[in-house]
Amino acid sequence: MIGRLNHVAIVVPDLEEAAALYRETLGATVSDPQPLPEHGVTTVFVELENARIELLHPLGEASPVENFLVRNPSGGVHHVCYEVQDIIAARDQLERRGARVLGNGEPKKGAHGKPVLFLHPKDFCGTLIELEESGHGW
Ligand code: CO
Repeated sequence: MIGRLNHVAIVVPDLEEAAALYRETLGATVSDPQPLPEHGVTTVFVELENARIELLHPLGEASPVENFLVRNPSGGVHHVCYEVQDIIAARDQLERRGARVLGNGEPKKGAHGKPVLFLHPKDFCGTLIELEESGHGW
């Protein structure tokens, strides 16, 4: 069911410092910070050949990554995002197998404008999983 790895999201305490680390120390192609107020984060996209790294920092009140940063003050991996061809079919299959979909179970528009869902980390080895409908032929 899952296809490509789309991105790994890392919450960071200092976005400029983290962007410089990826740009200068790791030699990656790094975007300018993109504020995504509807998602409560500012994101820097690190472009790799086969996937992206998204550096996330809380934006505004009640950011979904604020508590993560409180628990992990030096930052850490927040979620991984896998592509699926059909997000509704994927959700239905997962729920039939007892996996919990977060929220009301309806896909929301993600950071790339495509439908996404999140799966409960306790059902997946302690890892928060985002599913994104790829629109690719798989
Ligand atoms: Co994501």
